[in-house]
Amino acid sequence: MHHLRHKKILIGITASIAAYKTILLVRLLIKSGAEVRVIMTPSSREFVSPLVLSTLTRHEVLIELASQELWANHVMLGRWADLFVIAPLSCNTLSKMVSGQCDNLFMAVYLSATCPVLVSPAMDEDMWKHPATQRNLLQAIEDGVKVLPVGYGELGSGLTGEGRMAEPEEILQAITRILAYKHNPLAGLKAVVTAGPTYEPIDPVRFIGNRSSGLMGISVANELFLAGADVQLVLGPSVLKPLNGIETIRVQTANDMFDATVPLFEKADIGVFSAAVADFRPAEVYSQKWKKDNGGVFPGISFKENPDILKHCGLNKRKDQTVVGFALETENEESNALKKLESKNASMIILNSLNDAGAGFGEETNIISIFDDKGGQAKFSLQLKSELAVHIVEAIINYRTK
Ligand code: C5P
Repeated sequence: MHHLRHKKILIGITASIAAYKTILLVRLLIKSGAEVRVIMTPSSREFVSPLVLSTLTRHEVLIELASQELWANHVMLGRWADLFVIAPLSCNTLSKMVSGQCDNLFMAVYLSATCPVLVSPAMDEDMWKHPATQRNLLQAIEDGVKVLPVGYGELGSGLTGEGRMAEPEEILQAITRILAYKHNPLAGLKAVVTAGPTYEPIDPVRFIGNRSSGLMGISVANELFLAGADVQLVLGPSVLKPLNGIETIRVQTANDMFDATVPLFEKADIGVFSAAVADFRPAEVYSQKWKKDNGGVFPGISFKENPDILKHCGLNKRKDQTVVGFALETENEESNALKKLESKNASMIILNSLNDAGAGFGEETNIISIFDDKGGQAKFSLQLKSELAVHIVEAIINYRTK
């Protein structure tokens, strides 16, 4: 993910069998363009070789405070990093973090770190549930440490239970959420996003749909989540998945999407309506599959208009709510987008340029312009939809502070 490019991440490894998963995490971080350094506690060497980590990161792995007459400058490491990630965190190191015990380089770095600290605990279930561990965790949280939840499953002891370290992809996502947007500007806010096509049934097996992939809306949902919002995604039929942590409500038809979205929007601060909702649905749905031996003809279909979700939410929005819609225009693009801003009472309209190559439906890239109801306008050249989603979320953040 582009958010981690050139970010400086210090990984701390403590003694736990889960340390093998940290190797995968380091690989993921490096692939995302981050600069990674690793420190370890002396006893974690039993679980993972520093050589693997120094080779992957192309930096020496620091373990001891002094070696061969040289003092390792722990203060600089804690200042260098944008984020210190302790994974796995053993119950022994947790206890030292809480009491401030400084008996190795690892602890000296922790105690002198000025950056945020994220930990992913890993331990046997009984140790995890022990009141001492739970007390220490609460204290660590009070000290400002961000704690990832443990997973349930097979443990190092051979038992099954709670205490597994989070998976590398989950830790990567948590790191991205901390570093993507400074100070998580949307923390505490709720956002609802519609995405994907809708399928309007003709009979039990056939439907009328469209080629929307859902990529643009899912990318916006991901960015809103990374900026700190609590995100609910109302998603039509799409094979794509949003980030873990986004609540997804799956729907098929425009009516279902309307029914799912409207009550969520009432409780939301931000609504982004990017779904390619079918404007019409077959007025009658045949209860049986229409067979070709029915005289070799398919019956004519008459249509009923579907509810306009964006318009309904726009017209009913409160002053504190931000409503974002999309426009796909083939002619008079700008004036039609401005008309849509008004007719749907939206706060912001994102215009997709269908006339440009590489833009629009089913593509990975897009060209967009943003118009808002306070007179703001901005145009963005051909980019990945995931990158445009960053601009859209930045525009929403700026709009809300205008
Ligand atoms: O009116 P038009 O379909 O061009 O508007 C597109 C915008 O309206 C998109 O944001 C789309 O998600 C939204 N929309 C909707 N419900 C509909 C039709 C469109 O929310 N029934």
